[in-house]
Amino acid sequence: MCGIVGYVGAKQALSVVVEGLRRLEYRGYDSAGVAVVADGALSVRKRAGKLGSLEELLGADPLPDSTVGIGHTRWATHGAPTDSNAHPHVDEHAQIAVIHNGIIENHAAIRQRLLAKGVHFSSETDTEVVAHLLAHEYPSTQGDLAEAMRRTARQLDGAFTLLALSAADPDVVVGARRNSPLVVGCGLGENFLASDVAAFISHTREALELGQDQCVELRADSITVTDFDGNPARARAFTVDWDAEAAEKGGYDLFMLKEIAEQPRAVADTLAERIGSNGQLQLRELDSVSSRLASVDQIVFLACGTAYHAGLVGKYFSDHFVGVPSVVELASEFRYREAPLGDNTLVVAISQSGETMDTAMAVRHAKESGALVISICNTQGSSIPRESDAALYTRAGPEIAVASTKAFLTQVVAVQLLLLQIAIIKGSSDDLELKSMIKALADLPAQVDLALDTVEPARQVARELVGAKSVLYIGRHVGFPVALEGALKLKELAYMHAEGFAAGELKHGPIALIEPGVPVVVIVPPMGSPMQIREKILSNVAEVQARGAKTVVIATAGDEEAEKVADYLIRVPLTPLLLQPVVATVPLQVLACELATAKGHDVDQPRNLAKSVTVE
Ligand code: M6R
Repeated sequence: MCGIVGYVGAKQALSVVVEGLRRLEYRGYDSAGVAVVADGALSVRKRAGKLGSLEELLGADPLPDSTVGIGHTRWATHGAPTDSNAHPHVDEHAQIAVIHNGIIENHAAIRQRLLAKGVHFSSETDTEVVAHLLAHEYPSTQGDLAEAMRRTARQLDGAFTLLALSAADPDVVVGARRNSPLVVGCGLGENFLASDVAAFISHTREALELGQDQCVELRADSITVTDFDGNPARARAFTVDWDAEAAEKGGYDLFMLKEIAEQPRAVADTLAERIGSNGQLQLRELDSVSSRLASVDQIVFLACGTAYHAGLVGKYFSDHFVGVPSVVELASEFRYREAPLGDNTLVVAISQSGETMDTAMAVRHAKESGALVISICNTQGSSIPRESDAALYTRAGPEIAVASTKAFLTQVVAVQLLLLQIAIIKGSSDDLELKSMIKALADLPAQVDLALDTVEPARQVARELVGAKSVLYIGRHVGFPVALEGALKLKELAYMHAEGFAAGELKHGPIALIEPGVPVVVIVPPMGSPMQIREKILSNVAEVQARGAKTVVIATAGDEEAEKVADYLIRVPLTPLLLQPVVATVPLQVLACELATAKGHDVDQPRNLAKSVTVE
């Protein structure tokens, strides 16, 4: 939610900042704005709409040359997406400009206090109070914008990443963070601040991850990090392990199409070096927690959205290999329940961005309760892995399209690696079966490659479904989370009503939704799966077909029984049942993408959404 960029160096700040915003636009795209300092004055341009609208404005009303600047792309929380609510916000004398990601929870009280002092507000945002607070603090700091920022940050509650510029100091950008992401890009004679490394990856791969309640003063040749009281603080240094090209469309029309196509590579990278040539698992990231893993007696998977579906797949895997009680919780609900957690509880937090506020807060709660927390995350320098006891990174590379694709597949794989490792440590599973599952995992990249052959068939089915009002998805066992994931993709991209059901639940109510012509997508377990599961879902398909549904059957190539009940058939490669989500999800991603395209929607940036949900 909201992307922010800051730059100080020798280049034209505006072009660096706008290029950074282009790469962060996935975080929010309601409005955008920039500010620079030149000739002792602050210049701001901002406009409602996507970044393109701001670029038009900059064309018509250019900013002066400057080597220091900040920029923002917004996902509205307080105040409609209008020009005046767009960031940056400035104080009454236009001396200080500020941009913000997060929510200032005590903004109403601060606004009242400032109004009583006669301050005039020009927006409905929570952020504007920060510009006025900074302007009040600044005069008594002898021109130390970082100190003004620290004093301001100490007055704020909630979640914030803030960047500020002062007309009086053309060489500095300051930042502060609490519960929202902020990374520093360390260049030569230039430095960067951003919500995500994607903003500066074309300039530098050397980065610093700011810690909780830290403030940074950025100059072209220095980076000074302190806590909110001004004490020197350390930020964790890291090198970004992907390059700028990975965040480009690379010849595809859509990021989503590119990311779907990248899935075999993403799965291969996530497995790389974690399965040795001898077929042994080697998850070095877990070495520091292996003794605690031995005594785990309960597993709680925490996540939101697509990542939650990866957790659901994990539960089936855990039941089979680890055999301790496990639950999958929506992070937003978990945090406010009184879930019993103990020292032997393992919390597995799954998040592509590592910044989802609901998941981050649930992780904090789990840590405070004494649980062991391991995160599965795709983003270096993000909060959730930092607050976890250990982290297993998926190596999907940057996922720019708002709809999650390659992140989901790699989350499922990473969860499976983690659970196999626990099963090995606990001795909870048969050796031969473990070996065979590790071998099947090692073979997965090739299977995902074959699953890309479903792109064309899925496109054809999409053409048939364009007129549908609603699409239902059903599955059993690990096919159930796949059904949920397929339905979520369709909702968020094609804006169509879609629901995923455990197929066995149909007869308990949802079957009433079936009427002639309703498309029902069915995930049929691969041949070789336990007969009860296959037979039962095949009966469920017959039941909906008998009531006039049009069935879209996702089944293993060569599955003749499934073919018999299919109005439309999409064949996926053969895998063990527990790995089927990794291949069966691919055609469902394509189906949603195609339907959205056919309806003329913006696939990469669907309405009302943002990639990282950093508000609760
Ligand atoms: O970054 P996270 O994995 O924590 O994000 C969780 C959800 O917001 C995310 O998966 C969302 O549901 C996707 N847009 C779905 O495609």
